[in-house]
Amino acid sequence: MEKIVALCKRRGFVFQNSEIYGGLNGVWDLGPLGVLLANNIKREWWNSVVLSRDDVVGLDSSILSHRRVWEASGHIASFTDPLIECKICHERFKADLKKEIEEHAKTHPSTGSRQVAWTDVKKFNLMFKTFVGPLDNEENKTYLRPETAQGIFINFENVLSTTRVKIPFGIAQIGKGFRNEITTGNFLFRVREFEMMELEYFVEPDTSKKWFDYWRQERLKWYLDLGIKKENIKLVDLPKEDIAHYSKGTTEIWYNWPFIAEDFGELEGVANRGDYDLKQQSKYSGRDLSYFDDDKKKRYVPYVIEPSVGVGRMMLAFLIDAYSEGGNRVVLKLHPKLSPIKAAVFPLLANKMDLVKLARNIYDNLKSEFGSIAFDDRGNIGKRYFYQDEIGTPYCVTVDFQSLEDQTVTVRDRDTMKQERVRIDKLSSFIRQE
Ligand code: GAP
Repeated sequence: MEKIVALCKRRGFVFQNSEIYGGLNGVWDLGPLGVLLANNIKREWWNSVVLSRDDVVGLDSSILSHRRVWEASGHIASFTDPLIECKICHERFKADLKKEIEEHAKTHPSTGSRQVAWTDVKKFNLMFKTFVGPLDNEENKTYLRPETAQGIFINFENVLSTTRVKIPFGIAQIGKGFRNEITTGNFLFRVREFEMMELEYFVEPDTSKKWFDYWRQERLKWYLDLGIKKENIKLVDLPKEDIAHYSKGTTEIWYNWPFIAEDFGELEGVANRGDYDLKQQSKYSGRDLSYFDDDKKKRYVPYVIEPSVGVGRMMLAFLIDAYSEGGNRVVLKLHPKLSPIKAAVFPLLANKMDLVKLARNIYDNLKSEFGSIAFDDRGNIGKRYFYQDEIGTPYCVTVDFQSLEDQTVTVRDRDTMKQERVRIDKLSSFIRQE
């Protein structure tokens, strides 16, 4: 983890927010390469969950909603974590984080004392409060959304009446969520502001088990197709006592996080939320959120299957999985679809104008097609390879003297380090097909 965090900072993937003021706990900023990686992750998710399908549409609901939304969803009453406080230094912990609590208890960090006394466990609501309008009174109080899902449920009727969707169908969205976590940590794993990718897939109640199973498998396959190692990921069915009271079943996709010694830990959740949310929003709003099935001539409140994941947590999993060291180099073996830079173009020597000119030309052409292409003429070729390996660029293209004669370049593969000569006019199809 330390190496990943250092690499992310060194190469501009992730910066601590408000670093010049000492940082803001649990809040991170994406740097130039981090934005590219996160955008690639989001694009792959969106392509797979929305664009490649006929049965899912997109939505972008607001971060702020009417307070009643959160009363209806149950978040005001029960979006809480168990909190305990050290009576000596008043540091607060999520009561179920055994490791952190044990660490604190071993030697009290601020006093060096071994004596730690804890308060009773209290419930702490994780929602950030805010006010809408110029009066900061109770009436204008609302919350930054802790999940994007409710934005989908409150627009269920709008989507039904403005599109041609028929059950089974889904509504997907990507957007920010905010949780005032008691204990943050492990870099991007548990933070207070994060982007989420959520799909609410509405089905006929009798078929929910089948669709639940479908989405568990579909989501697992997505990770494997994008290169996550099979041995590092698994599906785990949560026992009844660990799931929300309304859930008809929750499976989590667990990843082999290096900071969890005993077992894997949650990367993504896939839940069968039953008809709880639509019924609650219907009850509180007074609007009918049922569905009339034209083919079967019956009305019902659909069940919902929900795959839900944080972009940052997923990014961390891809980075950890891709990180490798060996032979004096660090390589991020990211799937080419996720790599921030698709290819880097180098003139062999920076002071040979005809090499530089041809390299610039190749760079311009590739850039107009792929967007994120790098040009580098600094230092020696070895250093340039080293840098590109570390940020996960799948191909380095070198323009040398032979290129001037036969219109070919050397393409070096990041993972195998093999070099092959490729004709300049075939370069973009070479990069595309790989
Ligand atoms: N709508 C369902 C929902 O919000 P969740 O299990 O609370 O379910 C879904 O969150 C996903 O969001 C998690 O599986 C995780 O990937 C991500 N996530 C949740 N809390 C997070 C946090 N504090 N920091 C980073 N990611 C988080």
